[in-house]
Amino acid sequence: MQSGTAALHMALYELGIGENDEVIVPSLTFIATINPVLYVGAKPVIVDVDSETWNIDPEEIKKAITSKTKAIIPVHLYGNSCDMDAIMEIAKEYNLYVIEDVTESLGATYRGRFTGTFGHFGCFSFNGNKLITTGGGGMITSENEASAEHIKFLVNQARDESKGYYHPEMGFNYRMTNIEAALGLAQFERLEGFLEKKREFRQIYQEILSDLPYIKFQKEYDKAKGSWWLTCIEIEKKMNLDSLIKELKEKGAQTRRIFVPVCEMPYLKGYSNECSNAYEVYKGGICLPSSTLNSVDTVEKTALILRGILAG
Ligand SMILES: Cc1ncc(COP(=O)(O)O)c(C=O)c1O
Repeated sequence: MQSGTAALHMALYELGIGENDEVIVPSLTFIATINPVLYVGAKPVIVDVDSETWNIDPEEIKKAITSKTKAIIPVHLYGNSCDMDAIMEIAKEYNLYVIEDVTESLGATYRGRFTGTFGHFGCFSFNGNKLITTGGGGMITSENEASAEHIKFLVNQARDESKGYYHPEMGFNYRMTNIEAALGLAQFERLEGFLEKKREFRQIYQEILSDLPYIKFQKEYDKAKGSWWLTCIEIEKKMNLDSLIKELKEKGAQTRRIFVPVCEMPYLKGYSNECSNAYEVYKGGICLPSSTLNSVDTVEKTALILRGILAG
């Protein structure tokens, strides 16, 4: 697949979701979770996240269900698994599809099972900044072989090669190139090593920072093991976050604010339910350097610089 965005688009399209349908999505995510819902002409219904895990709150999902709801897109934000038991139970009760946005959580598990294997589809990204990369790219996983085959056909312009340039239905140019796929296979061999590094980085940040009472790490469910694509924290202290980020940069530590709640986007205002938790987390949320290109030394130094500024 050409990207994670294309994967989400194809999952929705394959399920026949479109006009007059509603799809429940979280208030805190990268914008590419939401746009594909609009691409297929459906209505995104943005619900709030849990303030501890930063992931979609199953109780909020329940409140948002209507007779038009067709699917839920849980996002395992920054590599932290959603409460998949609760989400799958709701989906079963209300007969809804689940499309997991796994673009940030390759390798994360819930009850020992990989994220992306619970829902009807799992949508992954191999963008340049992701855990493994093909430069740009994506993948869909599904247990439904017929759907998987149909998506493979759709992304290749829906071409029936046995009949030459014959296209029995409308298709898309969303396939991954062979060169990208080759790169992806080589990257897969390094996945375990990358995951180990990401988890080690988070542990170092926790060891150095978690005794500060105003620092909160994204909470992980007991049953979950995050991939920690990015280690992010919420700083519950009255301060100017942008000035903090500037000071950190001056001292050699590259950090950035977490995603702006999607409820804030002008074109999504009409689709948003109450998003106070997302705004609260956003107010103090920053992502710490987590690239696997970093060394343990850099991560330790960053944590100590941050500690020095906050505790000083
Ligand atoms: C939560 C989320 N959803 C979707 C995407 C889209 O993936 P891509 O950039 O490969 O289209 C990304 C990453 O970029 C993401 O972080």
